[in-house]
Amino acid sequence: MADAKPTMFERITRRFFCTFLPFLVRRQGGAGTREHWERHPTASAFEGIDPASQAQMDEIVALVPDRAAAILDMGCNVGRHLDYLYRKGYRNLRGVDWSAAALRDMASRYPEAHAASKLTCASFEDFLSGDAEPVELVYTRGATFELVHPSFPLIRRVCRVARQYVVMVISEAGHAYPRFWEYEFAREGFELAHLRRPASVLAPEHKVSLMTFRRLG
Ligand SMILES: C[S@@+](CC[C@H](N)C(=O)[O-])C[C@H]1O[C@@H](n2cnc3c(N)ncnc32)[C@H](O)[C@@H]1O
Repeated sequence: MADAKPTMFERITRRFFCTFLPFLVRRQGGAGTREHWERHPTASAFEGIDPASQAQMDEIVALVPDRAAAILDMGCNVGRHLDYLYRKGYRNLRGVDWSAAALRDMASRYPEAHAASKLTCASFEDFLSGDAEPVELVYTRGATFELVHPSFPLIRRVCRVARQYVVMVISEAGHAYPRFWEYEFAREGFELAHLRRPASVLAPEHKVSLMTFRRLG
């Protein structure tokens, strides 16, 4: 029965939901909206470096040893990863997030990293459609890219900004819109250089993968 083809009714229903899901999510103020993240409490959320984050931070430090290299955190929220990299000596850090509340709270939680980082309050869509400066490495820790509707050419735009690497720790199976990450990066001239599922064996319950893409040539 697992191989049974969907009926015409099922196909039409699925197509309807795929078409209108983004509008329904927006109407409900779900995690794919700025309003949701503006209201999301930042006082105690996204604190500390869990094992999956540690795996991502170790990867970044190994890939880019130059402390002056430009590194961009997409969906930085209150900046726990930016603070980690700042304490490791990185001095050309950037972050983008559409939650003004989260960026404001970063000033009190991580004052030094906040003062030293170039932060932009914008949606990924607006940020990447403008004149975003190229950086050596772009990273993101979910749920961030998983929430972006695929009608926006996210990976094409990210690859314009990333000179060398894109390091993602994301939920491959838990996103709103299934994507073919490897294919999308390959089209932009990036190869999957490192894949770890789960990102850290110390916390497999996080169900996130580490995916490092590297520019070819
Ligand atoms: C689950 S939080 C992760 C925060 C951070 N990466 C961490 O792990 O500490 C997702 C963050 O992505 C931001 N975000 C989600 N979609 C976004 C979009 N389209 N444009 C800008 N920021 C977005 C949210 O505001 C939120 O701060």
